[in-house]
Amino acid sequence: MAQERRDQNQTNGVAKRSFSVRTMEIEDLAEVYQLGAMNFKADLWPMLYRSWDEYEVTTLFNTDGDYCLVAENDDWEQGSKEQRIVGFVLGTVISKPGSAWSYGYVLWLCSHDLWAREGVAGKLVDKLVEIMVEEDGIRIIMADTDPDNHRAVRFFAKKGFTDTKPHLYLSSNLEHNPHYAPMLKKSRAAAAAETAERKKKKKKTRDWTSGLNDEKKKRTKSKKKLKKRKKKKKKTG
Ligand SMILES: CC(C)(COP(=O)(O)OP(=O)(O)OC[C@H]1O[C@@H](n2cnc3c(N)ncnc32)[C@H](O)[C@@H]1OP(=O)(O)O)[C@@H](O)C(=O)NCCC(=O)NCCS
Repeated sequence: MAQERRDQNQTNGVAKRSFSVRTMEIEDLAEVYQLGAMNFKADLWPMLYRSWDEYEVTTLFNTDGDYCLVAENDDWEQGSKEQRIVGFVLGTVISKPGSAWSYGYVLWLCSHDLWAREGVAGKLVDKLVEIMVEEDGIRIIMADTDPDNHRAVRFFAKKGFTDTKPHLYLSSNLEHNPHYAPMLKKSRAAAAAETAERKKKKKKTRDWTSGLNDEKKKRTKSKKKLKKRKKKKKKTG
């Protein structure tokens, strides 16, 4: 994909930093994962936190590589302390059999805190939509976020994602759930029984080997005694 270099433009006399948007490569995976892990925090966005892991990145890279884009710092040099990957977007296209419509979905979007409001996420989403339109003819683009994620809500609103539908994410701690707590209890009891059985077997083996050792000790003792007796016999004889 042709690299898209943003012009160094002047805003209020301050030179904006330059970055390029391109498709994600294998060497970007670790940095993308880490950037996500820094942003999708358990205390802020538990749903994002729970579903973000290395497999999410590698799986999407394998299944939807064309829709995995990164923003790279143009001034980054090998060995420099600055971040190289300053943002990413991972998306997918949903095509329903029997329907002429296909939907683009922004699954994950993130820009580095030190690059906030520099147009990183904007450029990433623009490029993603462009690819999805060109390659898959999408007519609708979707995204979802926590209603309390004001930065993201404002970002998407600014990009024209104005058709919003509330959606509830439901979760339950199984330990306190009257429907499923017995299942948890049963599974824990089975696991405890298995551990106890393993310990028992270990103890049996330990007892058996220590029995063998005792036997060995006895034999060496009696051998020594025999030797002593023979020596004595020789002397007296
Ligand atoms: C939301 C997010 C992707 C925006 O990235 P960004 O690179 O700063 O966005 P851009 O610079 O392209 O766009 C900036 C626009 O986003 C909105 N925005 C971004 N940060 C904002 C903030 N702190 N307060 C209010 N609006 C904000 C504004 O509309 C802003 O436009 P403006 O600067 O003209 O007011 C980024 O804050 C982020 O990574 N958040 C954590 C991860 C996340 O929540 N991802 C989305 C769900 S998967």
